[in-house]
Amino acid sequence: MNKLALLASGSGSNVENFYNYFKNNHDIEISIVLCNNPKAFVIERCRRLGIPCVVINRTQFYNSDEIIEVLKSYSIDFIVLAGFLWLIPDNLIKAYNRKMVNIHPALLPKFGGKGMYGDNVHKAVVEHKEVKSGITVHYVNENFDEGEIIFQAECPVLPDDTYAEVAAKVHELEYAWFPRIVERLLKE
Ligand code: GAR
Repeated sequence: MNKLALLASGSGSNVENFYNYFKNNHDIEISIVLCNNPKAFVIERCRRLGIPCVVINRTQFYNSDEIIEVLKSYSIDFIVLAGFLWLIPDNLIKAYNRKMVNIHPALLPKFGGKGMYGDNVHKAVVEHKEVKSGITVHYVNENFDEGEIIFQAECPVLPDDTYAEVAAKVHELEYAWFPRIVERLLKE
């Protein structure tokens, strides 16, 4: 049995998609969600879905091993960042070396780095008149959006597309691919 922890900061639509993808899988379980934002809608989603959700603060995350202890207490063997906006500290990277992946809503190395998350990314893609965007799944290292790339998928950006239309296309790619890529990594 693989036990996943999902880390999220926002709406949690990817968390819900993972839940639906794995709910009938007897080998892979979403055991816990960690959320750094007490106002995030993902907390309500987890309540509805029956997934334990723990709200964490900066001190726990950056100045202690508490998060690792929580993850170990749930026997977590793989971490998925699903719209999680805090930089991951070294202790967590070491504890889950190549066992922690992130999704970024663009084709890295373009449109990555600090401040590049969610709609900021899609607005930048439209402003730069890109003809395509997409998703990148990558291992997590000590820098934002710089770990080794595992998978990318593309979608076209049309000249008249708004950032919201680009966001919708990218979300569709996330829902279609992200859980599948994690499943593949767990089987390897
Ligand atoms: C997703 O689009 C994800 O790619 C993005 O945040 C969104 C979360 O949506 N992540 C980043 O921008 C990380 N830099 P959700 O809360 O509905 O799953």
